[in-house]
Amino acid sequence: MKIKGNSIPQKMTALRQHEPGGPLSAEEVDVPRPGPGEVLIKMHAAPVNPSDLALLTGAYLKRSYPLTPGLEGSGTVVAAGKGIMARLRLGSRVACSPPHEGDGTWAAYMRTTAMNVAPLPKKISGEQGAMMLVNPMTAMAFMHLVKEGKHRAMVNNAAASSLGKMLIRLTNSQGIPLINIVRKDQELKALKEMGAAYVLNSTSPGFKEELSEICHRLNATLILDAVGGNQSAILLDAAPRGSTLMAYARLSGDPLIVQPHALIVNEKRIAGFQLGNWLQSRGLLFKLSFINSVKKHMSAELASHISRSYSLEQAEEAIAHYRAHMSEGKILLKIGS
Ligand SMILES: NC(=O)c1ccc[n+]([C@@H]2O[C@H](COP(=O)([O-])OP(=O)(O)OC[C@H]3O[C@@H](n4cnc5c(N)ncnc54)[C@H](OP(=O)(O)O)[C@@H]3O)[C@@H](O)[C@H]2O)c1
Repeated sequence: MKIKGNSIPQKMTALRQHEPGGPLSAEEVDVPRPGPGEVLIKMHAAPVNPSDLALLTGAYLKRSYPLTPGLEGSGTVVAAGKGIMARLRLGSRVACSPPHEGDGTWAAYMRTTAMNVAPLPKKISGEQGAMMLVNPMTAMAFMHLVKEGKHRAMVNNAAASSLGKMLIRLTNSQGIPLINIVRKDQELKALKEMGAAYVLNSTSPGFKEELSEICHRLNATLILDAVGGNQSAILLDAAPRGSTLMAYARLSGDPLIVQPHALIVNEKRIAGFQLGNWLQSRGLLFKLSFINSVKKHMSAELASHISRSYSLEQAEEAIAHYRAHMSEGKILLKIGS
């Protein structure tokens, strides 16, 4: 193991969950040591994302317990195991994600594979960098999907999310019509104020008819669905013949509901999107240029608004606030310098 700077401490504070769905506690645990191809990151910050809430239920990803949650973050690589990739990252400020089935970012230090870190240029702050690997990459991937599928326009629901706001800024700057769906009038107003041309409230009377009219007028044949449940049936019903519904989350918690008629008679399709799988299907050169274009847009279109910051010890309070105010902005756990 090669170390940058002073020695690595033996113990650290980490958030631990002892069973699926159980409470979180800040505990003193051993600092892990990186093995071959791995790095040790002194954590700076980590957000709370919907995928973290899903992870905490125990139903989303297979994990062993006790578990340190946290699916993305930022920090500095302070130690590296054997291998050229790991050694190259020593001393770098990075955006990072945990290893497959390993402990996560909600700790003072995280061990991960060198492949799961992306160096941060000076112009990207540690706070924004902590949120670079999930939403900005996904928003950029959606831009590829719309172009590669030659769609003239697209629909996105849960559109007041951080990801939804990134998509509004990207589509505005590239002239691609985006139909946004929210469920509260205050979010409708906020998205219009930030420049969204089409925003509908799914709880308004006449929503289905209005959605169908705009989808047909703009020929919106890519439907991005983060909600699921009955909203999926409404979206598919409103979309023009031949449209694709891309399920990318299940915020309603309900199974996706679809009328077979839409698929059989109107040639509509359903597909799923997960960033990791999408990236895995791409070559190395594409991935390098993709991450560079994400970094380029991080201070503008792909910036996340941070509504509040908390310490690791305040995680339960942070999560409770986040659950109640998701559209307000990102909640960040500030971990270290
Ligand atoms: N598949 C992938 O690879 C991938 C990658 C990145 C993100 N995602 C998903 O993208 C979505 C947005 O992520 P984010 O981090 O940007 O979210 P976020 O900023 O935390 O915001 C979440 C949004 O979801 C809305 N919402 C929550 N429950 C809802 C429901 N039952 N019906 C309608 N809207 C609901 C909230 O609106 P209210 O204020 O009305 O509650 C809020 O605007 C998440 O579902 C996330 O899991 C998926």
